[in-house]
Amino acid sequence: MTPFVMVVFGATGDLMRNKLLPALFSLFKKKQLGKEFFIIGFARRPFTDDSFRKMLKESIKNKDSLLVEKFLDNIYYQRGLFDDKKGYKQLITKLNTFDKKMGACITRLFYLATPPDNYETILNFLHKTRLSEGCGQGSSICTRIIIEKPFGKDLDTAKLLDKKLGEIFDEKQIFRVDHYLGKETVQNMVAFRFANGVFEPVWNKKYIDHIQITWAEERGVGERGKFFDGVGLLRDVGQNHLMQLIAGVAMEQPRSFTKEYLRDERAKVIKAIRPIGKTDVSKFVVRGQYNRYVKEKDIPQDSNTETFVAMKFFIDTPRFKGVPFYVRAGKNMPKNVVEISIVFIQTSNILFREYGFPEIGNVLTIRIQPDEGISIRIIAKKPGTKLALKTVSMHFTYEEAFQTKGAEAYEKILVDIFAGDQMLFNRSDELESSWEFITKILEGWDLQTRLSKFKIPVYSEKSWGPKEANILIEKDGRRWL
Ligand code: BG6
Repeated sequence: MTPFVMVVFGATGDLMRNKLLPALFSLFKKKQLGKEFFIIGFARRPFTDDSFRKMLKESIKNKDSLLVEKFLDNIYYQRGLFDDKKGYKQLITKLNTFDKKMGACITRLFYLATPPDNYETILNFLHKTRLSEGCGQGSSICTRIIIEKPFGKDLDTAKLLDKKLGEIFDEKQIFRVDHYLGKETVQNMVAFRFANGVFEPVWNKKYIDHIQITWAEERGVGERGKFFDGVGLLRDVGQNHLMQLIAGVAMEQPRSFTKEYLRDERAKVIKAIRPIGKTDVSKFVVRGQYNRYVKEKDIPQDSNTETFVAMKFFIDTPRFKGVPFYVRAGKNMPKNVVEISIVFIQTSNILFREYGFPEIGNVLTIRIQPDEGISIRIIAKKPGTKLALKTVSMHFTYEEAFQTKGAEAYEKILVDIFAGDQMLFNRSDELESSWEFITKILEGWDLQTRLSKFKIPVYSEKSWGPKEANILIEKDGRRWL
């Protein structure tokens, strides 16, 4: 690993504490950060290097305090307001001392871990101060910009943000993070589908009845109310994480396992999702809010923000034309689970009708989390002298097979950023297509709200969403698994 310095804007926030810091420490422990690296936290609060390290130390859950101290020695703090040149100027001085120490220009990574409202301001200052141009403010090859979702609020704002990025950085310097792409099980979907000859021939409309995706989180919005209420679930996870799952299950085989071919296939399949027109939204999309939502911290009493979405759509590729996709996602659900189920068409039911042929037969389930793995439901003969049928499951779990769940998503994401590998990061055309689809739904919701005195359907906490979500699938003679 070549030496690098990573500046984390918004380093006193949730993302740093909950995701980046644990991932960095774990990589350090595994000696994957190289000998020389520097992390600089950039934020408003008045910390010194020492008090910042002390604050971070409390978030690192490891008993080996010597190792923790050694790790923290690589971390520094720069106080600054995002909209004031002063902090950026001081940052330049700090960065120069690292270059001097190393006797070379070291790679500079700028990680925007702030609320998205700050992106434009920070980008403008990186540009104005020529920090974006790297060492000596003159060699842009040595800089990368890392930007977190939500990437914009809709298609127009996403395009504007992209334009701004493009004015300052080359595409190869831009890392648009969706940590679902770093999840072991999401990466495995490509391997599973295209490395196993037995599945590819049946992975199409001739054999598949429908596909279901469930994304459920047990917790509510907790402390993130302020952020969440302005965003809603569709933007928070639908436009990004769910799109990665859809792309993984529906994309075509890439010509080779390389960055651009993989991104091409992801982009093509997202573009092929049939848009849900404004006036069709109530037919194909259900939104809901859990009952206690408006009592959460920072949530207005009259909020109509959705904490649950269910939808049905089609993907117009030769492989999937006519196969319905049902997706539901929500907070405050009965359990934590993210999984994709491919439900196959029942073929031999006539032959076995009188022997208890099950209503749903073969289902292949890819469990993204927890209990990462894959299972396939098959129909078997019950032991005994009479012929009777029953469904049973065959399982593969990561933990059993490999004695590990694999690297945490943010570890993978960070390692790839340090190495400059963009395969698991979004290209702007992928984002544009997903925003096109999502923006139409948002516009439809706007219309719904304006036309009638709309009140969002409420669901009880720890339930699977409002009853409308069941109706959405049941009216097609199917049910959520
Ligand atoms: C984030 C969303 O991107 O992903 C959160 O903003 C959500 O609302 C989180 O809780 C889920 O991530 P994971 O890795 O726990 O599934």
